[in-house]
Amino acid sequence: MGKMKAVICTKYGPPEVLQLKEVGKPIPKHNEVLIKIHATAVTASDCIIRGFNMPGDHKFPMKQIMGLMMRLYVGFTKPRKPILGLVLSGVIESHGEDIKQFKTGDQVYGMTGYSFGGYAEYKCMTEKESKNGCLAIKPNNMSHQEAASVSYGGILAIHFMREMNIQSGQKVLIYGASGAIGTVAVQIAKSLGAEVIGVCGSSNAELVKSLGADKVIDYTNDGSINKLEVYDYILDAAGKNKKSNLKTASKNALKENGKYISVDDGLLELRSEYLKQLTELCEAGKIKAVTDSTYPLEQIVEAHRYVDQKHKKGNVVITI
Ligand SMILES: NC(=O)c1ccc[n+]([C@@H]2O[C@H](COP(=O)([O-])OP(=O)(O)OC[C@H]3O[C@@H](n4cnc5c(N)ncnc54)[C@H](OP(=O)(O)O)[C@@H]3O)[C@@H](O)[C@H]2O)c1
Repeated sequence: MGKMKAVICTKYGPPEVLQLKEVGKPIPKHNEVLIKIHATAVTASDCIIRGFNMPGDHKFPMKQIMGLMMRLYVGFTKPRKPILGLVLSGVIESHGEDIKQFKTGDQVYGMTGYSFGGYAEYKCMTEKESKNGCLAIKPNNMSHQEAASVSYGGILAIHFMREMNIQSGQKVLIYGASGAIGTVAVQIAKSLGAEVIGVCGSSNAELVKSLGADKVIDYTNDGSINKLEVYDYILDAAGKNKKSNLKTASKNALKENGKYISVDDGLLELRSEYLKQLTELCEAGKIKAVTDSTYPLEQIVEAHRYVDQKHKKGNVVITI
């Protein structure tokens, strides 16, 4: 059996539970492609799983119920699938006989869902979307690093913004505009002609403006609450664990028929259709990848330590 490098999550805990190991190289089944991974990313979800830190702001007993659900799905004392990593970009090295949509040499990107496995040199995936992931041809104007960078925030932004029927001129407030989801959400809202108001920390104001935001509000300054206007849509792209007085105040700043959507409301569906839409937006130059920093796979612990601080700008990429 061939071998590959992979990062194994030995138990739930701090970044140091991650260990670089040599493991068996996977062999594709009749309905799978074998992807040689060139880049992955450390997403907020990777850190949630590794550290067993629940998303959302649930209280007793919901918090305990959610914790039990997470253990049932992911593993009781450690992840059942020990190689974490929710995103990947790479090249199809070989495939089973039933593969129709892809061929050897195709450059693909996607999300791995409950099968995880992005922190490795190789990964087998089905071409059909499922809770175990979705794949598409990567944007032809992006490197593997950029494609891995944009994939998580791209799919999440498209999924959670699908109920926003944004019309030109409408006012859209994006809370958490400097994160993985927020940086894509700002660009999507702008490309639809909205007036975009991005909320982030003061050090990220220029970044959010460069993505097209018309105005930027600093959530760390309570005086900013006076800058709130009345919005057609509000997207909480930061998640319910990330709170501020401004966020609380913004909930009263919606138009009568306006919509408030949080990325923690409902579970993400992994649809290849979202990826194809993301590819089109990237190739049309409407979305660019925002990468904070890049680490080699060997420095995954450092990358997790950084993402754990909860202030990454866009995405943290891992090269393989
Ligand atoms: N429903 C689902 O199925 C699902 C799936 C996956 C993820 N999620 C949610 O999506 C979240 C991840 O989003 P992401 O990857 O975009 O996050 P992220 O990139 O980790 O967010 C980092 C950003 O959060 C901002 N931030 C930190 N504290 C904040 C606060 N109190 N108020 C406003 N912004 C704050 C930081 O901005 P500054 O540095 O400018 O302060 C930073 O740019 C998860 O935490 C989870 O809640 C939901």
